Amino acid sequence: MTHSPVHVMCIVGARPNFMKAAPLIEALNGRKWATITLIHTGQHYSRAMSDLFFDALSLPKPHVDLQVGSGSHGEQTGQIMIRLEPLLQRHRPDLVVVFGDVNSTVAAALCAAKLGIPVAHVEAGLRSFDRTMPEELNRVVTDQVSEFLFTTERSARENLIREGLAEAKIFFVGNVMADTLLKHVEQARALQTRRTYGLSHQAYGLLTLHRPSNVDDPRMFKEIMAAVKELAEDVPILFPCHVRTRERLAVMPNLLGTHVGRQGIILLEPLGYLEFLSLMCDAQLVLTDSGGIQEETTVLGVPCVTLRHNTERPVTIEHGTNTLVGTSRTRIVEAGRAVLRRHHPTRRTPDLWDGHAAERIVDVLERHFHADSSESERTDSAPMAYSSSCPSHIHVQKVQ
Ligand code: UD1
Repeated sequence: MTHSPVHVMCIVGARPNFMKAAPLIEALNGRKWATITLIHTGQHYSRAMSDLFFDALSLPKPHVDLQVGSGSHGEQTGQIMIRLEPLLQRHRPDLVVVFGDVNSTVAAALCAAKLGIPVAHVEAGLRSFDRTMPEELNRVVTDQVSEFLFTTERSARENLIREGLAEAKIFFVGNVMADTLLKHVEQARALQTRRTYGLSHQAYGLLTLHRPSNVDDPRMFKEIMAAVKELAEDVPILFPCHVRTRERLAVMPNLLGTHVGRQGIILLEPLGYLEFLSLMCDAQLVLTDSGGIQEETTVLGVPCVTLRHNTERPVTIEHGTNTLVGTSRTRIVEAGRAVLRRHHPTRRTPDLWDGHAAERIVDVLERHFHADSSESERTDSAPMAYSSSCPSHIHVQKVQ
């Protein structure tokens, strides 16, 4: 009796997906029972938002790039489903793996589940309890249609159970983003990217800002930037600017005033994974509205001031170095100055953020699929043949 390998299709689309997929693909590559295909939806497509990460993380070239590009939420989600469905129908993977909470995550999960293909959600169960955040809706829907819910922190299990999901589907495996960070941190430290900007160790702040609620509303954006300008009088602030935020700045040219420059706010293009990690390692203070950066600073023990009213990652506050301050100018300045006055706080790394989360995920999958495949011959899955028979709008590339 021959056993065909278990076909695992990993689907990524946006910048925060790439560092989550990398360790899982590496861990799966080491198992003979699995064959992996990697699909890029093309939600993020520019070099700075995508290619740089594939290079730094040694991710394989995607087998297929769906090239959906930018659009409204409905358009983007719909286009991903339209372009992914024929691929899933043709290749019928044994499992579709999705990551995090971006539009690509929910679109791929829904598409696969409707075809009866099991879905694994990496980073399941996180909840901000704020349904005005697009990511919260993506998280809730993705979890509801997933068969494997891989969680990063204990709060996630409680959230999933409260929403009626079965205990048996939930696996607390730890944090794959921490796997990637721990693997690259020494390389990143050695880069000393801060020197490019003439900055010393722990003598600068690092800012990221891209949530629609913070940058799309000009009043809110102004309020936050007023706080940043005030802090930039105490310490230089590096600001690698997300494309969404850069677009908003372009229509408010006077927002930063005279604060842009060597001793104030230093505006940068979006950075690669290692360069940004290097800057985080050496920063005195990180200001952000990102989800992932709250976790990365927790692992690094770098103080993080989060410019949001809620977080879906409470463990970063309980165990880590994260403080939620909201978006008022005075609160941001107070919290920022408090960090600048004291030494780095002590922290405890959350449970299972130890660099081995991806291996735990693969162990769970192996117990499930490999045991099954040993019992009976598998005939239902057709791993991708890289043929030119894909629909013409799908761009197929041979794996490199
Ligand atoms: C998306 C995710 C967000 C994640 C963020 C990380 C959703 C709902 N949001 O937000 O959770 O934290 O990615 O970056 O999925 N653009 C480019 N080049 C690109 C990609 C986008 O210039 O490669 C521009 C386009 O003008 C686009 C805008 O950025 O309209 C926003 O991109 P989009 O993918 O819609 O959302 P993000 O704000 O990046």
